[in-house]
Amino acid sequence: MIETICVIGAGTMGSGIAQVAAQSGCYTLLFDINSEVLEKAKIAIQKNLQYLVDKQKITAAEKEMIYSRIRFVNDTNDCVADVVIEAIVEKIAAKVGIFNQLAEVNHSKVIFATNTSSLSVSDIQAEIIHPERVVGMHFFNPAPLMKLVEVVKGNQTSDEAAQTIYDLCKQMNKVPVLCKDAPGFIVNRVARHYYLEAMKLVERGEASFENVDAIMEATGFKMGPFKLMDLIGMDINLAVSQSIYEAFDKAERFTPSPIQMDKVAKGDLGKKTGKGFYQY
Ligand SMILES: NC(=O)c1ccc[n+]([C@@H]2O[C@H](COP(=O)([O-])OP(=O)(O)OC[C@H]3O[C@@H](n4cnc5c(N)ncnc54)[C@H](O)[C@@H]3O)[C@@H](O)[C@H]2O)c1
Repeated sequence: MIETICVIGAGTMGSGIAQVAAQSGCYTLLFDINSEVLEKAKIAIQKNLQYLVDKQKITAAEKEMIYSRIRFVNDTNDCVADVVIEAIVEKIAAKVGIFNQLAEVNHSKVIFATNTSSLSVSDIQAEIIHPERVVGMHFFNPAPLMKLVEVVKGNQTSDEAAQTIYDLCKQMNKVPVLCKDAPGFIVNRVARHYYLEAMKLVERGEASFENVDAIMEATGFKMGPFKLMDLIGMDINLAVSQSIYEAFDKAERFTPSPIQMDKVAKGDLGKKTGKGFYQY
């Protein structure tokens, strides 16, 4: 049973993962280098928990109890836990950097879980001091609602570390699925074309993004591809597109779209910046 979790990065994913950790009874630390993001995460978590109270899923006392289990920190020396889950930028060097930094302040059994959407777990662990304790733990957005977690073993991950993360998912009331360390794992590999083909339609003037969303939603998808990209964050989605494209030796079918590049260049990253394809 895991008791203390440290979540690194309090953005779209990190704040949701911290909420899930606290709801599962863990003492939770949430760290970000940006204090504004930490403040926003406090508000988001309070709001999400209040929503659960309003829906009578938890009591007001439970809400307070869950929230009191979270400590918002801005010093890496405070990031001491049984499991560290990183949800920072989708860049290998950044992930390696934070794990190696935290290895110095943590005990020798801490497990490093990465929420990467598309980077190779084997590539990340190759540069880490304790590679056998690095595991992919890929949550979906929004983390408090989405049940699935892809658990990924890199080629140096120990069975014990993978099992700990698998069991932790269950402790968090999630549904873990063991995946190979293949580009995009399962969901992001299959879903890539949901985004890329949709953008191709718009790029070629064959449909408006609003119509693509409306039609896909009418066929039963919960969200059209453009609304979903706004929720994910354009920068993250582009990074995932690029990483899968590179992993497949620049196969034409995975070519990132100029539309997503343009949005990232303009800073229209989606919900998190107030504007993406839609206004928020
Ligand atoms: N957005 C999604 O839908 C989604 C879904 C699943 C997985 N992911 C993955 O989760 C990770 C984070 O994505 P996100 O959408 O939450 O990003 P985000 O941009 O919303 O948040 C990232 C946060 O990390 C912080 N950060 C950057 N470098 C840091 C460091 N060295 N130490 C501490 N904090 C740092 C930033 O300040 C920012 O607040 C990525 O690897 C992404 O691929 C994203």
